[in-house]
Amino acid sequence: MSQAVDAGQVGHLVKALRQVGEGHLVVITGAGISLASGIATFRGTDPDAIWQKDVTELGTFRYFQHDPVGSWRWYLSRFSQVLGAQPNAAHRALVDLERWQLQRGRFTLITQNVDTLHEDAGQQELVKVHGSANRIRCPREGCANGAPEGSLPRSDFDVEAFLARPETERLPHCPLCGDILRQHVLWFDEYYGEHRDYQWPRVQEAAWSADLMLFVGTSFSVGVTDLFLRQGLGRGIALLSIDPSDAAAPMAGLEVLNAKAEVLLPAVGRHLQG
Ligand code: APR
Repeated sequence: MSQAVDAGQVGHLVKALRQVGEGHLVVITGAGISLASGIATFRGTDPDAIWQKDVTELGTFRYFQHDPVGSWRWYLSRFSQVLGAQPNAAHRALVDLERWQLQRGRFTLITQNVDTLHEDAGQQELVKVHGSANRIRCPREGCANGAPEGSLPRSDFDVEAFLARPETERLPHCPLCGDILRQHVLWFDEYYGEHRDYQWPRVQEAAWSADLMLFVGTSFSVGVTDLFLRQGLGRGIALLSIDPSDAAAPMAGLEVLNAKAEVLLPAVGRHLQG
């Protein structure tokens, strides 16, 4: 059953998108865009939102060093829902929006999500600024399988054997140096410049050159959204956020469209193509 969409919100977003013209449309997505694909958010009101379980400490390199088995067990419990998920109508609508905008100007999508749903949907101009759940890497300084350029496909490693008997010996080890491999994601005690895959210079350029910033499914809780808000407000460009939550907009100058991404974005796409 298609969910009712607010015609005023559609008209408002279509007008803002058309005003970008030959300029640079930058979309920044967060966990909310993947909720309809069955992946819990971090801070949303969905029952499985994970930081509510006060697990922020587990998303750190410090925890991985202290307890690699615990760190891997937690991530595998989280990523089992991530790696099996499929793109939803919001992901597909952003692929269509990219194609539409590239006919007239620039488009960049920066995702905070480590799932693979944007690339699975066919997104091209995509930056995964927090890394990716389908890759792992070596933690050792200087190892070619580690930062700043190395990583390995998670699928190269048999995590089922580890889950069957969660012991250090069964964790994936680096084929080059033998260290226990880690998630290829940005942890809370790490920095955006630490790995080439986070494409931090490209993220900064997008923040400086955007003519419209469209935030989709984010609570504005970490550094990358701070950067975009600061730059966007400083340059006085249009800042729009799609989020069904009635939590107040984090700051003046940001216009929140209270809607679900998987409902509003496809409706906007139909108007743009029309
Ligand atoms: N459509 C749009 N937004 C939605 C939807 C939906 N269908 N459902 C929920 N949301 C909103 C929630 O209301 C919430 O404001 O998505 C937002 C998700 O916020 P978070 O869970 O905080 O996710 P995110 O903003 O991506 O977190 C940023 O924090 O934990 C770290 O590294 C992690 O990348 C993550 C970062």
